[in-house]
Amino acid sequence: MTPTTPGPDLDSAAAAFDGVDDQSLQALRTLQDEFVRFLQRYKFGIDEIVTKLSILREDFAASDRGNPIEHISSRLKSADSIVEKIQRKGVEPTFDAIREQITDIAGVRVTCSFVSDVYRVFDVLTSQSDVRVVRVKDYIAEPKANGYQSLHAIIEVPIFLSDGIVPVLVEVQFRTIAMDFWASLEHKIYYKYDAQVPAELLDGLKQAAVTAAQLDADMERLHHEVHGGEAVHLS
Ligand code: GTP
Ligand code: MG
Repeated sequence: MTPTTPGPDLDSAAAAFDGVDDQSLQALRTLQDEFVRFLQRYKFGIDEIVTKLSILREDFAASDRGNPIEHISSRLKSADSIVEKIQRKGVEPTFDAIREQITDIAGVRVTCSFVSDVYRVFDVLTSQSDVRVVRVKDYIAEPKANGYQSLHAIIEVPIFLSDGIVPVLVEVQFRTIAMDFWASLEHKIYYKYDAQVPAELLDGLKQAAVTAAQLDADMERLHHEVHGGEAVHLS
């Protein structure tokens, strides 16, 4: 996987400038440029974190400690989703307010085989000297009411631009394959029913989350029996 994320695509926004006078047009173009550069910094933040994780993955694989990372994915939040979240959360529409209050513009997801690996990768990444942990939500220790499990971290990483160093927030989600399987199905069901999921399906999902957590615990135990070593955060 190459650690490069597609940049912001705002070409279609140009169509909105039709019929606007020259001075306003210039102001809008300046704003558009600022927004593109604003988003670009998050793309660089993703690139930094994905590179860090890719290096860890290769280094772990080359060592005799086994590779804890199964999969790395990333996404830059679209302009549409950012605007939707600004409205939903009542965020002031300024770059400073968005930077402070919308902390998932840059998103990276790390999928691991075992729960102990989830915490291991989190520990190794967040102990790097240029990574600052801003907030952690441990939905593995405390799953959400619907059954959702994952370890979420908002981390700050510096990016080195032509005119200086800028800190950027990146939301990193760490989860197991079983948690990822569950979350992707739940996400599809949630959207299919436009958030109004029937009670029987919610119960089924909750039960499937318990089954997934049990599978994780069983796999961890078997893994530990075969390989020994420290297994942490077992239920
Ligand atoms: P958002 O406003 O949705 O970003 O939530 P939040 O700011 O309260 O943050 P939280 O850490 O709870 O969730 C962030 C992200 O985790 C979401 O955008 C999803 O990608 C994922 N997530 C959280 N809860 C669920 C869930 O119940 N189901 C699934 N499938 N994903 C979830
Ligand atoms: Mg989000």
